[in-house]
Amino acid sequence: MKTIQTQNKAPIMDALNDFITSRVVPFDVPGHKRGKGNKELTWFLGERCLSLDVNSMKPLDNLCHPVSVIKEAEDLAAEAFGAKNAFFMVNGTTSAVQAMIMSVCKKNDKIILPRNVHRSVINSLILCGAVPVYVNPELNQRLGISLGMSLKAVEQAILNNPDAKAVLVNNPTYYGICSDIESITKLAHRHGMKVLADEAHGTHFYFGKDMPISAMAAGADLAAVSMHKSGGSLTQSSILLLGHQVNPHYVRQIINLTQTTSGSYLLLSSLDISRKKLALDGEDTFKQVMEMAQYARDEINSIGGYYAYSKELVNGDTVFDFDATKLSINTLGIGMAGIEVYDILRDEYDIQIEFGDIGNILAYISIGDSHKNLERLVSALAEIKRIYQKDKTGMLDHEYINPTVMVAPQDAFYAEKQLVMLEDSIGEICTEFVMCYPPGIPILAPGELITQEIIDYIKYAKEKGCLLTGTEDLQTNKINILKGGH
Ligand SMILES: Cc1ncc(COP(=O)(O)O)c(C=O)c1O
Repeated sequence: MKTIQTQNKAPIMDALNDFITSRVVPFDVPGHKRGKGNKELTWFLGERCLSLDVNSMKPLDNLCHPVSVIKEAEDLAAEAFGAKNAFFMVNGTTSAVQAMIMSVCKKNDKIILPRNVHRSVINSLILCGAVPVYVNPELNQRLGISLGMSLKAVEQAILNNPDAKAVLVNNPTYYGICSDIESITKLAHRHGMKVLADEAHGTHFYFGKDMPISAMAAGADLAAVSMHKSGGSLTQSSILLLGHQVNPHYVRQIINLTQTTSGSYLLLSSLDISRKKLALDGEDTFKQVMEMAQYARDEINSIGGYYAYSKELVNGDTVFDFDATKLSINTLGIGMAGIEVYDILRDEYDIQIEFGDIGNILAYISIGDSHKNLERLVSALAEIKRIYQKDKTGMLDHEYINPTVMVAPQDAFYAEKQLVMLEDSIGEICTEFVMCYPPGIPILAPGELITQEIIDYIKYAKEKGCLLTGTEDLQTNKINILKGGH
């Protein structure tokens, strides 16, 4: 149970405050020595910021082995999130996802997961050698987006793979779609499997009212939570949450396999302060965010052509719930790809949105937004429709193609490779990632069969202006395949 008395504290912030007023002479790193050694950097970032950029020391604790203020701050975070333990992470939610998977999977262990995961999930499989068992998500025909995992499909995957170690759930997807994580957790636990949640887009589930259920409340074992997204902390700061059945000491050791030994106190204090704010004001904050998102959704839907979707998608299974703070908008109705609208918003209207892909855009609404800015977005969208609307013929209408896994990701990634032109790769096995970033969901991952449909999709995404990443070839004209075919 959170209590205002305890959540009112911010131990890392307090310790840093004491430290910078104590006039300690630094003969330790960082070498900029509170900014004195780099005047331009200090001018640019500010004196206070540089004075807080310090290294671990006794009064400030150590992220790799927390025993005092970091431990206290992590315990407060665990309490605020309803978890048994919490770890502060300074290498993004990517590192939290990696630690979560590597804590339950070793080489050749199976993990059940949807394929529409962020690249950090499949990266983890390359690192630890675990083998994916994909539950193909259903596609919403109108929106072209992949939905959550159906309970039946998860059950089937569990029955077919009783030796799997874990089930991973997106809670929610980038677009705001939630699977029935509570029932999936019960099911997985009955079969002795752990449940891991990628909650990169779900921090607010822990604090807002009328939100989809959070992973910890659903009984999941581990959750990677992007505090730097809806939680308001600094970019790259994140939290890994643990349930009651997970050994925190082992997880710490796993985290320390890849974690820096020089954790940034700027990031750590931002986690501490943001946790305090969320615990104290989160409910009010997210009520406002939800209202703003709903206002924008109604206005955008009244323009016509666009479809800003929400809870009406809920179907009790593959869309068990929807995160109504997300302003996800389908753009195909005006004959434009999401990425085209994204580019016009930025280039012509100075509006930067979170992402645009084949058929959708996502405008991220948060505590920092105002109605005035929302109105600017709404009127820009109305004008874009008026000026640029086209015939829909020939538009690709889906974001996702079910992959065929031929080889485990780690084996494919480390195999002998051959670089070939995209059009010559059909029928071969891919050894690297291809994805649009954001959202960073691989179109191809190492070990998957390259098909004509996938190559057409990649070319279409490129043509429309999506930023394609993952391949050795920065232009994504060539792709690495398994040498000697399969
Ligand atoms: C679903 C999902 N998981 C994990 C991550 C990784 O987060 P980070 O960029 O903080 O490493 C992202 C990033 O956008 C994401 O969308």
